[in-house]
Amino acid sequence: MVHFLSLLLLPGTTPLLLHTYDTVFHGFSAKLSLTEVLKLQTLPHIIAVIPERVRHVHTTRSPQFLGLKTTDGAGLLKESDFGSDLVIGVIDTGIWPERQSFNDRDLGPVPSRWKGVCASGRDFASSSCNRKLIGARYFCNGYEATNGKMNETTEYRSPRDSDGHGTHTASIAAGRYVFPASTFGYARGVAAGMAPKARLAAYKVCWNAGCYDSDILAAFDAAVSDGVDVISLSVGGVVVPYYLDAIAIGSFGAVDRGVFVSASAGNGGPGGLTVTNVAPWVTTVGAGTIDRDFPADVKLGNGKVVSGVSLYGGPGLAPGKMYPVVYSGSSGGGDEYSSSLCLDGSLDPKLVEGKIVLCDRGINSRAAKGDVVKKAGGVGMILANGAFDGEGLVADCHVLPATAVGASGGDEIRKYMSAASKSKSSPPTATIVFRGTRVNVRPAPVVASFSARGPNPESPEILKPDVIAPGLNILAAWPDKVGPSGIPSDRRKIEFNILSGTSMACPHVSGLAALLKAAHPEWSSAAIRSALMTTAYTVDNRGEEMIDESTGNVSTVLDYGAGHVHPQKAMHPGLIYDISSFDYMDFLCNSNYTLTNIQVVTRRRNADCSGAKRAGHAGNLNYPSLTVVFQQYGKHQMSAHFIRTVTNVGDANSVYKVTIRPPGGTSVTVQPEKLVFRRVGQKLNFLVRVETTAVKLAPGASSMKSGSIIWADGKHTVTSPVVVTMQQPL
Ligand SMILES: *[C@@H]1O[C@H](CO)[C@@H](O)[C@H](O)[C@H]1NC(C)=O
Ligand SMILES: *[C@@H]1O[C@H](CO)[C@@H](O)[C@H](O)[C@H]1NC(C)=O
Ligand SMILES: *[C@@H]1O[C@H](CO)[C@@H](O)[C@H](O)[C@H]1NC(C)=O
Repeated sequence: MVHFLSLLLLPGTTPLLLHTYDTVFHGFSAKLSLTEVLKLQTLPHIIAVIPERVRHVHTTRSPQFLGLKTTDGAGLLKESDFGSDLVIGVIDTGIWPERQSFNDRDLGPVPSRWKGVCASGRDFASSSCNRKLIGARYFCNGYEATNGKMNETTEYRSPRDSDGHGTHTASIAAGRYVFPASTFGYARGVAAGMAPKARLAAYKVCWNAGCYDSDILAAFDAAVSDGVDVISLSVGGVVVPYYLDAIAIGSFGAVDRGVFVSASAGNGGPGGLTVTNVAPWVTTVGAGTIDRDFPADVKLGNGKVVSGVSLYGGPGLAPGKMYPVVYSGSSGGGDEYSSSLCLDGSLDPKLVEGKIVLCDRGINSRAAKGDVVKKAGGVGMILANGAFDGEGLVADCHVLPATAVGASGGDEIRKYMSAASKSKSSPPTATIVFRGTRVNVRPAPVVASFSARGPNPESPEILKPDVIAPGLNILAAWPDKVGPSGIPSDRRKIEFNILSGTSMACPHVSGLAALLKAAHPEWSSAAIRSALMTTAYTVDNRGEEMIDESTGNVSTVLDYGAGHVHPQKAMHPGLIYDISSFDYMDFLCNSNYTLTNIQVVTRRRNADCSGAKRAGHAGNLNYPSLTVVFQQYGKHQMSAHFIRTVTNVGDANSVYKVTIRPPGGTSVTVQPEKLVFRRVGQKLNFLVRVETTAVKLAPGASSMKSGSIIWADGKHTVTSPVVVTMQQPL
């Protein structure tokens, strides 16, 4: 039995319904046999039948790092009254409502237009909501239809969070000021979300076995009809065509109703084509570092020091003492693949007792490896990246003294161990020195190694991710139910935990979108995204091009999109690239989706692609970035054009002049080169032509070059990336 989402409810039919939908989608979900599906598909009222899919979550100094100063009384937070009339809906693992981050001190009454509810359930009363957390619901019918009844000793049949992810993301978007906040003394300071006065509504869709599309769609439906302004979704899965993708369908319905949707890009980096949640109406967020880290260095018996990071908070190793260090449960090499991963039961206590164990990253969770070492009697752990993770480091709240080192550091340690273990007189030794919290780290931001990258696998003519935001080592609220390492045996209780992922980057943008919407209530979702993109930056705090954590090399638009968000500048972008629902329909037409497929996404009964001819091609969607992919079928000269429309949201009587930075090997022209606006709200068009000559490439290979076009009036700078890819057909 597979179960399916279908469009349009049939009169007089009552299949085993999981959910019915009527806001962002018209239809129902039900558990059906294949025969039933085939029968349903022949019925005239059924437009489409979509198979169920499972998704997964993409697992505070960040406000200061983003320039959201609160002491000077000016700036974005002030101008938007902290977003107090806005509601952010967080579709995630639920919420732990008692956290201080969700207190409702000094907040006015719940906005009168709010239609949401505080659904009660296990360990969650309807009084668990307040003027901060104004709504909470849970959706598990799809989950239980696939997995059977949930185990109520490990999860709550209610909006309460038994995982931690949803509590963490909600407090990043809109947590109140809490002081002092820290995790075992790390990252001590004031904790605050991006929009500390915005209201929150939690929509729980993720359970122990994942987040099911039929439940996700039900959450979108409820959130939009409840009246949220922003939806934050740190969840994703494989990329499929939009008409088969509940997240793309639900978010189109939300954006069509004026709701901003931000979603995490995914943690599948650093490889290319890994970005998820790529629909052009979604704002797709990758992760960067902030200027804070948690150094914990490995000191080797030969005096060498390898730098690492850790959030270990218990008693340290004996100062000055060197410990024997072992790999694969032995001090030699050997072909013990599974033991070097420190999987459960793989370590021999006789070999590990009293020693530091070197474990390779992969398969089981980073913190779980520490638990395996601890149970086998080890005193410490060094977690070494392989080539796949490169130099990208993630700090964890380990259950024993432990640190994470990069691939090159790991190689250095292995080389030392292998040399030392050959000499009987000086067997390999090491210790870990925990250095606490370091701030003002340079360079920052750096694109996080795990952050998923372009090109966009579904719509190559739309650059994704759109932007990056802080997503490494983010301090935010955490439930009592889960220890900070996330492993079941960890019974420590903490108010705040530090996590990394594009899951953490996405709610930063959700909170910022609420602030921008509070300050500019008339802006559409596309306008908010445009403001974030055209003001984003690509240089770090050394004034150099942002680098990629995985290689240490300069990063590219495929890693960061338009760049890192700059909230203060996004407040006053000067010009915006706006997009209507009709423009998105033209985009779908030009992407060769059938009318039926388009109807599934847009719910418009009479989808019509005749207007799309005006737009010409999918790359003409009025997006704030410009992307073209040339197929070199033996051609020598290739060219493309883009039409764009900008709306003046700055000052009346302003004159913008263009600066063109063509991608290497291309020629780019813009007409006109000067835009003269008389009024605020006025729209003007311009035409961009890109010309290039073929380059020598192996069959199937491609070459990407990027540049930008910049409109400036002396006060505002409006930057759009221009991306040109040459592809040699196979
Ligand atoms: C539920 O989970 C608990 C804790 O993991 C376990 O002991 C119990 O056997 C599970 N119950 C069922 C019905 O699977
Ligand atoms: C980093 O840049 C160097 C110099 O351009 C290049 O040789 C190397 O291949 C790059 N490394 C990666 C992993 O891209
Ligand atoms: C759509 O189909 C037309 C005609 O087959 C083709 O020329 C065009 O390249 C296709 N566009 C996309 C985006 O696949």
